[in-house]
Amino acid sequence: MKFFVDTANVDDIRDLIALGLVDGVTTNPSLIAKSGRNIIEVIREICDLVHGPVSAEVVATDYETMLEEGRVLAEIAPNIAIKVPLTLDGLRACKTLTSEGRMVNVTLCFSANQALLAAKAGATFISPFVGRLDDINIDGLELIADIRRIYDNYGYETQILAASIRSANHMSECAKIGADVATAPPAVIKAMASHVLTDKGLAAFLTDAETAGIKIV
Ligand code: E4P
Repeated sequence: MKFFVDTANVDDIRDLIALGLVDGVTTNPSLIAKSGRNIIEVIREICDLVHGPVSAEVVATDYETMLEEGRVLAEIAPNIAIKVPLTLDGLRACKTLTSEGRMVNVTLCFSANQALLAAKAGATFISPFVGRLDDINIDGLELIADIRRIYDNYGYETQILAASIRSANHMSECAKIGADVATAPPAVIKAMASHVLTDKGLAAFLTDAETAGIKIV
């Protein structure tokens, strides 16, 4: 499973690149707003750091303006994935932009029907939001499993990009189901390394090493 980082914070992206944990980046208008930076500038800086797909989202809701914005975003770098919302205009924009050879990430997916439409529109990525479904007591992981089954039934090449990931547990569950990609905030990706028995075991090893006077360098 590929790991994308869901942030527009360049320092956080650099940190995770050093750990070898960045296969791509996703942003959205809320994350860009949180960065306090100009969208074009921050996306360009991210694309300079990351070789994999970098999702940048349109803010228009009509087909024509989505196309215009998408083309401006795609000019930033060859690894831009234009993010469009899962609306009829968004699907139409997806079809046009992918036919021009651009990567498109269809976002705000909350149902298997929506995911089926995105695949028919030729989306490069579909972004089902796991955490936001969990928030309203609908099993977000079950949606990932449903989409996996549907895409496998027909050999759709659209990649399942599990989004709105809120916990380390979500990451391993998405990997078990067979999501192609999961995008998560930096803190969630780092939390995957934590285990209480690792901390306990390390403390015991360090105590024993000190008692025995073990020195390596
Ligand atoms: C996905 O592309 C979105 O940017 C993101 O995962 C949304 O997550 P949230 O529900 O935690 O805001």
